[in-house]
Amino acid sequence: MFFKREINTPKTIGVLVSGGDCAGLNATVRAITHHATKTFNWRVIGIQRGYWGMWVRPLQTIELTPDVCDHQWVSSGGTFLRSNKNYHAPTFADGGKTFPNLDEAFCNAYNTLGLDAIVIIGGDGSFNKLNQIHDFYNKTKKKGDHNEVNFIAIPKTIDNDVAYTDLAIGHETALDVVIEAIDNIQFTAESHDRVMVVEVMGRDAGHIALKAGVASGADAILIPEIPYNMDDLAKHIERVYQSPQRHAIVVVAESVKTPDGEHLRGTIGDEEQTRYRGIGENLASRLKEKVSADVRFVSLGHVQRGGRPRVKDRLLANRFGVHAVDLIAKKQFNRVIVVVNGKMADIHISEVANVLQTVDVKGEMVHVAKSLGIYLGSI
Ligand code: F6P
Repeated sequence: MFFKREINTPKTIGVLVSGGDCAGLNATVRAITHHATKTFNWRVIGIQRGYWGMWVRPLQTIELTPDVCDHQWVSSGGTFLRSNKNYHAPTFADGGKTFPNLDEAFCNAYNTLGLDAIVIIGGDGSFNKLNQIHDFYNKTKKKGDHNEVNFIAIPKTIDNDVAYTDLAIGHETALDVVIEAIDNIQFTAESHDRVMVVEVMGRDAGHIALKAGVASGADAILIPEIPYNMDDLAKHIERVYQSPQRHAIVVVAESVKTPDGEHLRGTIGDEEQTRYRGIGENLASRLKEKVSADVRFVSLGHVQRGGRPRVKDRLLANRFGVHAVDLIAKKQFNRVIVVVNGKMADIHISEVANVLQTVDVKGEMVHVAKSLGIYLGSI
């Protein structure tokens, strides 16, 4: 199944970006490349299009050097390495085939590329996959048979739902983008004495809605972690509307259920994955029946994943990237890098996989929102 690679010097490391893009990915890849090449004289291979780059044959790779990863990588959004959100077998235009087992394809690619370690920049879906690959490798390894599959994982996601880290790359920039959008929506809401319902991303976690709602002066924030009552919400909004303010902003996280307890899902995209869509519109029409104000809705959509990385994401990207290379140099593998109370740390992948970080309903941010008189639901 595998073949043994001769020990190469200098070390060769791989890096790939998996899952939804966000701001700060290129800065992370650049930091890894610069530190690995300049400090340790290692070779860095970029894998293109996430796990697909390791699954397809020929492998999709690019040689990364400080010249390739120039200054534009610090300041640009998206990912130059490309990414992929699909975890099933790739299809080939030329009818080619991959291994029947994709984990085997990954391990084989790792050996073929002569990697000593690989850095995976991803979110919870990517880490679950990584944990699966790790299990596959452990189950199939025979001593001395093939090279060890060593990896380091770096959390990135606008949703900030990766467990045990205060922040993932991309979250802070997404918040800035959302806040700027709601600031703009406030003006039009005020100009027309309207209620605006703003639907934001976040999948099963309400971090974006809660923080952006507080930071942009929203009047109501609905998150999946806290149930709400339609009549109470409407009464609150009507009260705000009847006040001198005469307009209101409702921020709703995409995975909030309808008043009937239903999750609204979109049909576009890969059927394997859940994509929430439509609660903003649903809520706006329900609200319209219950308040005297005119109501509109807007879904911010993928705009939230765009934008140039703001300073916090640039710094986090550089810190995570350097820490990843330092861990490889110390031969500390299969760790997920986290930031806790401002400090870099790392924990084993098995602790992070399949654990979702949702909003702490007893946490400070919920207390702050409630203290400001924002309607947060039945809490
Ligand atoms: O996980 C990031 C995220 O942007 C979620 O907030 C959102 O639900 C989902 O990805 C959208 O997925 P897609 O890009 O596949 O439409």
